[in-house]
Amino acid sequence: MTDVTAAYGHRAIEYEDLLGRMDAVHAEDRRLIDAWAGSIDGRVIDAGCGPGHWTDHLVGQGLDARGIDLVPTFVERARATYPQVRFDVESIEEIDEPDGALGGILSWFSTIHHEPSRITVPLTEFGRTLRPGAPLVLGYFVGASLEPFDHAVVRAYRWPTTDLCAVLDGAGFDIVEAQSRPGDGDRILGALVCRRRPRTLIGATTRAPRSEAGTAPESD
Ligand SMILES: C[S@@+](CC[C@H](N)C(=O)[O-])C[C@H]1O[C@@H](n2cnc3c(N)ncnc32)[C@H](O)[C@@H]1O
Repeated sequence: MTDVTAAYGHRAIEYEDLLGRMDAVHAEDRRLIDAWAGSIDGRVIDAGCGPGHWTDHLVGQGLDARGIDLVPTFVERARATYPQVRFDVESIEEIDEPDGALGGILSWFSTIHHEPSRITVPLTEFGRTLRPGAPLVLGYFVGASLEPFDHAVVRAYRWPTTDLCAVLDGAGFDIVEAQSRPGDGDRILGALVCRRRPRTLIGATTRAPRSEAGTAPESD
């Protein structure tokens, strides 16, 4: 079991009580994600869905969305709370979807715990599963420099926006929009809306998305 799975497993109910409801969501985040949702054509993954409130919200907006999370307690409770919505225990590093199958991915603060040297693993997987042109929304903590901090559940990282945009670019995404707003204490919450670039043609062959980061999937 990974640190992330164990840490969230112990605190899943507490997390759900505190943050797992749409009425606990900031109005700006809701506006951004509703606008993103309105642009989607095709199936959607709520990647690292936690309690599942965003997945249910997206389904309520008419999207064909399913939630995935590493933590079985989150998935069990999300299934019980939203029985009409599909949730799976699945890693964002190895999404059970064919290449180019998805119309959109919401990754709302689900890559914040990834070691910077490994964040390309989920981002490349997002690029593999999204069809060209499809949008990704990524929530993250903003910092002046790339550094770890003591998140309430388990260590997380702050990213300078330019650094994260560069990693997303390398994973095959164009940045469409960047937003940030103050969070609790000294935290700054960021959101990036990106689009999967069309596959790059090398000679007569199409470069496979899995080769872009050159990193084998592992769990955190
Ligand atoms: C800060 S919480 C965000 C949860 C939810 N997206 C929300 O907005 O409330 C981070 C979530 O990412 C999940 N997560 C972290 N690493 C993951 C991985 N490799 N695969 C799937 N889920 C992961 C955690 O279990 C947790 O539910």
